[in-house]
Amino acid sequence: MARLQAGLGRRLLSAGPDVDLSLRVAELSATRAGALDAHATELRRIERSLHDGAQNRLLSVAVLIGASRRMVARDPAGADELLERAQSAAEQALAELRTVARAILPPVLADRGLAGALSGLAANCAVPCRMDVDVPERCAASVEATAYFVVAEALTNIAKHSGARHAVVTARGGGGRLVLSVEDDGRGGAGGSPRAFGSGGEDGGSGLTGIRRRIAAHDGGLTLTSPPGGPTVLTVDLPCGS
Ligand SMILES: Nc1ncnc2c1ncn2[C@@H]1O[C@H](COP(=O)(O)OP(=O)(O)O)[C@@H](O)[C@H]1O
Ligand SMILES: [Mg+2]
Repeated sequence: MARLQAGLGRRLLSAGPDVDLSLRVAELSATRAGALDAHATELRRIERSLHDGAQNRLLSVAVLIGASRRMVARDPAGADELLERAQSAAEQALAELRTVARAILPPVLADRGLAGALSGLAANCAVPCRMDVDVPERCAASVEATAYFVVAEALTNIAKHSGARHAVVTARGGGGRLVLSVEDDGRGGAGGSPRAFGSGGEDGGSGLTGIRRRIAAHDGGLTLTSPPGGPTVLTVDLPCGS
């Protein structure tokens, strides 16, 4: 009985002859290292924006309130003016904190879903952008956030580098996959040579490297075709997760 059960287990549980597990382990180790790198970069970015933005503003709030307390007895009008400046610095700090929080996980994703969030990005893009979204089911929150950041970065690149007149964003869901494509009719040449792209040397930029790492961490795929003269097409295929 034991031998029969062992034989059955071996037949059902072992990997097939066409599956190279050591290759898969190497791939997972590499994407895990990439995910950790992307995570560290993200933390550094958040730390920098808190440090340079809100923290500085709150420091000036403290200084202005201190100065106005010292002034209030002998010059109430001057103290009031300082308090007004402190109030506006506090309001700026609040606005900056909101921006930082939005960049971590855009609340628009939870409120309006992926389709609504992507339409918002297209509406704010400097280049006229057509949106074609058909994603009937919701994906895991981390997958939707990745999709959002991919499209945000691609549209920023189009506005910054492409000189395009039109952009098209397509999103298709179903069968447990989410496929996105962002296309522009600009000058092309994005990401430099394929080798530089693969090694993360994106011609000095960090945007494409960042999204490539995010996608690898989800076990997704990214292809970028951008011949000189254009058009540029960025396609991303993500497992939907649950
Ligand atoms: N849509 C595009 N059209 C033309 N060139 C692009 C496009 N997207 C990216 N590029 C080029 O690829 C480079 C790398 O992009 P990226 O990694 O996002 O870096 P960054 O935007 O910070 O410069 C850009 O500097 C730009 O030269
Ligand atoms: Mg960029």
